[in-house]
Amino acid sequence: MGAAFSDEQGAPMIRFHNVTKHYGRTGMALEKVDLAFQQGEFAFITGRSGAGKTTLLKLLYAAEHPTHGDVLLEGRSVARLHPSSVPWLRRNMGIVVQDFRLLPRRSIFENVALPLEVCGVKRGELRPRVRQALARVGLEGMGKRRPGELSGGEQQRVAIARAIVNRPSILLADEPTGNLDHYLSSDIMDLLVGICRDQGATVLVATHDQDQVKRHDFREVHLRGGRIEFDRRSQHGPSGNVTALKQPGDEATHSSPPGTEAGDERDEPQGQRESPSEAQA
Ligand SMILES: Nc1ncnc2c1ncn2[C@@H]1O[C@H](COP(=O)(O)OP(=O)(O)OP(=O)(O)O)[C@@H](O)[C@H]1O
Ligand SMILES: [Mg+2]
Repeated sequence: MGAAFSDEQGAPMIRFHNVTKHYGRTGMALEKVDLAFQQGEFAFITGRSGAGKTTLLKLLYAAEHPTHGDVLLEGRSVARLHPSSVPWLRRNMGIVVQDFRLLPRRSIFENVALPLEVCGVKRGELRPRVRQALARVGLEGMGKRRPGELSGGEQQRVAIARAIVNRPSILLADEPTGNLDHYLSSDIMDLLVGICRDQGATVLVATHDQDQVKRHDFREVHLRGGRIEFDRRSQHGPSGNVTALKQPGDEATHSSPPGTEAGDERDEPQGQRESPSEAQA
């Protein structure tokens, strides 16, 4: 997965070059933003409501286009990408949008499976990967429910499972802990750190959650009125303390919420697996 956006020359994986974004004639969302993120970097995007955080992420996955300037992914312009190439761009991205956008009539399993289906992953491979992703966010056994039968925090975790199921090389998370209590927020943030650490993914997290920002020593890009007010680098280099967190032998467990074992289906409680027919649905 990571190969599509690999960074062999040491150039930044993501680059905002003098980016200005207006919505309509008056709505200034970003102004003259210059930023670069390295492959495998973890960064928080912070700022008050309306500062431009969501816009910054949307420009990266081509949901919006800059009014001026350019957004480059591995040296290729996202802004000038032909619309037919946008699905290709997003195949290597996990995106957690601010309002989750789960499909209400589909089961949780089907919601999480969607990115794999879009990529043509075969059923036999799809099912264990969906289960792994659900286990990783602590929702094993919930596959048959529909989004309306879950709490807000659980729906948020489904959105994260859907974003990571494809093992993306870039993970963009917009307020991923917005509806969660402190403990669950910490679990989810640790999970995102784990994705960065274990998969070498570049992870950008837009958040208001200063508790979480303070818990970690990662880069913080702070926006104010569409401009970068400060860009506080981690003390530990581009990946912050992601590498420093790594303990020998903790590969499988560190990033999982308590009680879950990432990717280990043997721990899935009996009777809670999705039936084969569900995967066919
Ligand atoms: N589709 C749109 N049309 C017009 N203006 C928009 C649109 N989307 C965002 N804006 C404006 O652009 C600015 C930046 O919005 P953005 O959603 O990026 O902020 P944000 O930092 O994500 O805020 P929040 O913390 O509330 O999610 C705001 O002033 C907002 O009103
Ligand atoms: Mg936002």
